[in-house]
Amino acid sequence: MKNILVSGGTGQLGQEITYLQHKYPQYQFDIMGRAQLDLESEASIKNVLTSKKYDYFINAGAYTAVDKAETDASTAYAINGMAMHHISNYIPEGCTLIHVSTDYVYHIKSEKPLRESDTCNPQGVYARSKYQGEQFVRATIPKSIILRTSWVYSTYGNNFVKTMLRLGPEKEKLSIVSDQVGTPTYARNIATTILSMIETLDSQDVADRKYGTYNYTDGGSTNWADFARHIFEVSGITCRVDNTTTEAYGAAAPRPLWSVLSCEKIEVDYGIVGRSWKESLLECMEEIGG
Ligand SMILES: NC(=O)c1ccc[n+]([C@@H]2O[C@H](COP(=O)([O-])OP(=O)(O)OC[C@H]3O[C@@H](n4cnc5c(N)ncnc54)[C@H](OP(=O)(O)O)[C@@H]3O)[C@@H](O)[C@H]2O)c1
Repeated sequence: MKNILVSGGTGQLGQEITYLQHKYPQYQFDIMGRAQLDLESEASIKNVLTSKKYDYFINAGAYTAVDKAETDASTAYAINGMAMHHISNYIPEGCTLIHVSTDYVYHIKSEKPLRESDTCNPQGVYARSKYQGEQFVRATIPKSIILRTSWVYSTYGNNFVKTMLRLGPEKEKLSIVSDQVGTPTYARNIATTILSMIETLDSQDVADRKYGTYNYTDGGSTNWADFARHIFEVSGITCRVDNTTTEAYGAAAPRPLWSVLSCEKIEVDYGIVGRSWKESLLECMEEIGG
């Protein structure tokens, strides 16, 4: 039986992998929270990665507090950047890394879905620290997949969907930015995508296995204000949504205005096609009970 290590087990993606693991009886999962695998600690990374012969390591752990990172840069770089350097030093021979990254690394002006080969221009500490982590992975772990995704929500943890379901019934109106365009992505679909990529790699001859950087998001696109309107519409909440701008909202960290990702490469190489974001949202909301 093959062994899969997962970091960030208490996060949205980590909990979705926990939820799905029973569907993959051919794998033995070690899903670890920060207490067992602390990405800020080289000793912890070394200890876990040298304790067992892992076949796959899904790095779902990250410093994800985008605005807080602006005043806590050393922690963000340690977890999102340097940890990848330590992982490259201790990852077992033959172990494939699936490292999760973000649409924020692109941050370029475009009118077309962003491709993996497009220039990256990360802005702000979070985006730059995630990009630094990617660069360590690309340079030092040849058997690795970097999966860039966007606007993640789930039944677990804190996210935009749960915030809207909490605030909507309490407020008459909310002002939400309408000038950032991207794709909401259900963490369960990311988990399924990663596990399907692992199954594909396992079924292939060594020479046929494809590594590298891949975008994965659910299908379609929207902006945050329309996303909120859709959440309210399907859950019967009457709260009004007023459009505002990224500039007027004034978050501490910069946000890309265009974050629609092309998912052609993952479709061609792995046969994976994202489900529509609206259909995925409905499934998640039914589970939340919204
Ligand atoms: N959320 C988004 O909108 C979004 C968008 C694009 C890409 N991504 C990427 O997708 C991945 C998964 O995100 P997510 O939404 O599941 O994030 P999340 O819910 O914030 O979970 C992050 C996880 O990382 C853990 N973590 C933080 N510091 C750690 C440390 N020092 N050592 C070990 N674990 C640590 C957290 O543990 P604690 O619970 O102990 O803090 C938590 O389990 C991340 O790589 C993120 O950058 C997320």
